[in-house]
Amino acid sequence: MIGREFLHAPGPTHIPQVVLNAMNRQPLDLVDDRLKEIAKSCFEDLKDLFRTQGHVFIYAGNGHGSWEAVLGNICAQGDTVLVPIVGHFAHEWADHARALGIKTQTIEGDWRRGIDPARIEEHLRRDTDRRIKAVLAVQVDTATSLSCDVQAVRRAMDAAGHPALLVADAVASLGAMPFEMDAWGVDVAITASQKALMCPPGLAIVAANDKAVQIAQATPRFQRYWDWNTRIGDEYYTKFCGTMPEHHMFALRAALDLIKQRGLEAIFRSQRMLSGAVHQAVQAWSQAGALTFNVSAASERAVTVTTVRTAAGIDPDRLRTYAREKLGLMIAGGLGKLGGSAFRIGHMGSINEPMILGCLATLDLALKELGLPHGEGAVQAAIAHLARERAAG
Ligand SMILES: Cc1ncc(COP(=O)(O)O)c(C=O)c1O
Repeated sequence: MIGREFLHAPGPTHIPQVVLNAMNRQPLDLVDDRLKEIAKSCFEDLKDLFRTQGHVFIYAGNGHGSWEAVLGNICAQGDTVLVPIVGHFAHEWADHARALGIKTQTIEGDWRRGIDPARIEEHLRRDTDRRIKAVLAVQVDTATSLSCDVQAVRRAMDAAGHPALLVADAVASLGAMPFEMDAWGVDVAITASQKALMCPPGLAIVAANDKAVQIAQATPRFQRYWDWNTRIGDEYYTKFCGTMPEHHMFALRAALDLIKQRGLEAIFRSQRMLSGAVHQAVQAWSQAGALTFNVSAASERAVTVTTVRTAAGIDPDRLRTYAREKLGLMIAGGLGKLGGSAFRIGHMGSINEPMILGCLATLDLALKELGLPHGEGAVQAAIAHLARERAAG
């Protein structure tokens, strides 16, 4: 492909050059103070990102690794968790729990709107013998692009007077939108390196408060790698249960520096603005009746990814393949029950106006070249939105 390829999947995302460069070096000796300093500062800065005074654990892993780390620490086999199903990733998380021998109860949603917190409260009130050990809440379900109110889940739990732990999946949201672990009463939160953190895939990251760590200490386990107990302490070899994934940590250090330089508020504002441009374009495309937002309420649309449903007779995967192979634009497909009837535009992390406009204009071109029905003026609508927002500062 001549020119650049445009990666607009919702993870892995575009990696800034400075982060790539940070990995282009020889490993350091494990006892080298420079390595310890990098690791120490990453742990500290991640606490700031999660907005917690709790503990942070970093694993060589991915989002699934974070799920497993949490479940293995706070649950024994036979324990029960409650999962509000806002999309494919919530569904998969529940499935992951079952595979580990944990019982699940679910609250099913329609994947287009968030779960009413009153349903969570009601469900927990009915759990009179307090079997439910944790509520697993996904902040942004990357498959549906539903953005969920994690704080409302905590309020529902408190209203029911239920002692379960609140565990939040912030894989597709941390570093792109507000997340207040301590202030919102989240006991455990997870993320992964390859999304808004702008790093290569390969790190699973977990934050846990004292309450969760105490529960973990009292929970019988059969695995060691994920164990928080062995990772608490100052010895970096045990913090990583062995050799630190050094190059991923070099990348993380560079990415966290970038985040600090920009500042979280500026990043959140930019994410709102750029996602707004995507939403304007989808709104324009949807005028022809063949493409539509998966998430009906604008207020529940994620700032990190947008899922677009396609009408019967339109094959989203043909659009994706065409965009990738003929135009060098990579977008993602529908997942789970949205497979074959949706595509997804990722817009988080290291992303700016030219990238978003390039993505939208290229998608518009692909729709035209394939003769797929779509409303006109999508790119103009996106530009108008950006101009308005930028002028408003
Ligand atoms: C919200 C969410 N949770 C968990 C995962 C699983 O992450 P991974 O693919 O890194 O295992 C993903 C992946 O996209 C995700 O979007």
